[in-house]
Amino acid sequence: MSSKFSKIGFILAVAGSAVGLGNAWKFPTLVGQNGGSAFVLLYLILTLGVGFVIFLAELALGKLSEKDPVNAYRTLAPKHKKAWSFAGFTMIANILIASFYSVIIGWILKYVFLSITFELPFDINSAKDQFNELLHKDFLSQLICFTLVFFVIFYIVSKGVKNGIEKLNIWMMPTLFILLIMMLVYTMSKDGFYMAAKFLFVPDFSKISVSAVLEALGMAFFSLSLGVGTIITYSASLPDKTNFITSTLNIIFINILVGILMGLIVFTFIFEFSADPAASGPGLIFISLSTLFSKLGIIGSIFAVAFFISLIFAGITSAISMIEPFAFYLINTYEMSRKKALIIIGFIVYILGIFCILSYLSFTHGYFSFFGMSFFDILDSLSSKIIMPLGGILVAIFVGFIMKKEGLKILFKPYMRGIYFELWYVFLRFISPLAVIIIMISIFIR
Ligand code: PFF
Repeated sequence: MSSKFSKIGFILAVAGSAVGLGNAWKFPTLVGQNGGSAFVLLYLILTLGVGFVIFLAELALGKLSEKDPVNAYRTLAPKHKKAWSFAGFTMIANILIASFYSVIIGWILKYVFLSITFELPFDINSAKDQFNELLHKDFLSQLICFTLVFFVIFYIVSKGVKNGIEKLNIWMMPTLFILLIMMLVYTMSKDGFYMAAKFLFVPDFSKISVSAVLEALGMAFFSLSLGVGTIITYSASLPDKTNFITSTLNIIFINILVGILMGLIVFTFIFEFSADPAASGPGLIFISLSTLFSKLGIIGSIFAVAFFISLIFAGITSAISMIEPFAFYLINTYEMSRKKALIIIGFIVYILGIFCILSYLSFTHGYFSFFGMSFFDILDSLSSKIIMPLGGILVAIFVGFIMKKEGLKILFKPYMRGIYFELWYVFLRFISPLAVIIIMISIFIR
């Protein structure tokens, strides 16, 4: 990535990175596991108070250096260049995320096939059995779907991110959105809808726990693709005169909205059938949505195919943005061809992805589980609850204390000045990193 995005291309690419399975899959799952509304509130606060602040700092880092994450730190650090360049290596988490993320996109692909062959079950218990069968027993389907997804992602990245993404996103985002609204309208006629709305919006502070706060923090980082060099990488190609403040706010708004809409739809069906929102684990959206679609007969199958395909696209535009930082780094630093860089990264992602699949299969008898967690969950937790927040703290310290305030002022001046800039700066230097540090520490001394 060296030439610039077009203005709309940049916004679409960043929105494409942000909006993905984090909103559609992870958010509802975590909301279910962490008691609903209180988690939603925490997520909103942390998205605005930490996510937004660090997002702008990553933008500045990318724009002012026009480099990949490692070289961005190296270029902009006035001294200790080598030490700072290590901060860029938090982008390694992206490789971990890309592997389990592609496995989930693979599950969605499987659900496209199930929808086409009218195999979505009618009631929630059969839906649960169907998902568990896939997760714990069906290695072959998972392997085939994951492999297909893997090749599509790497093919697109090999063609260069800019062209691929712009074309994909310009119609994918609106389609996903329209389908979500149509599904929401349908769910509103159900009794479960009011319970879902209450579950999501009426705060119950008794449900807040230290681990829920860390989950919400991880979710805020994950859903905005922060702390792992992705926003730095995309901003390196930020076209001049883009109002990145309004763009960022728009992206954050869409990101939250997609999560909330998905939550409302998914939980309506969970409550409609008196299922337990916390018990479904990674299968929550599949279990809930397949019941929704099967209720609608043929129309439901058409809907299911359209919806799952648009989710696949949303996932793919995010996955691409996980691969690009590391590829950009290898190409920049070692003058490697894009193809060679992608073969190296692809090899790692593919192997880790297979381990993720194996870690849920019953015949591996826990071989791929460590400390009571599946390999899949370990990659997920390690990246979103440890590496991403750590990456965020490093960005905040670097941009807040090491970079010159004047340079930032000039960069932000056309879009954010005076008190707004100062406020952001105070958040960046003190409030946001301290919040992250306190949350991370409190987990250990709990
Ligand atoms: N933000 C993406 C989502 O919510 O699905 C996930 C993601 C994309 C994480 C890119 C990290 C990343 F670098």
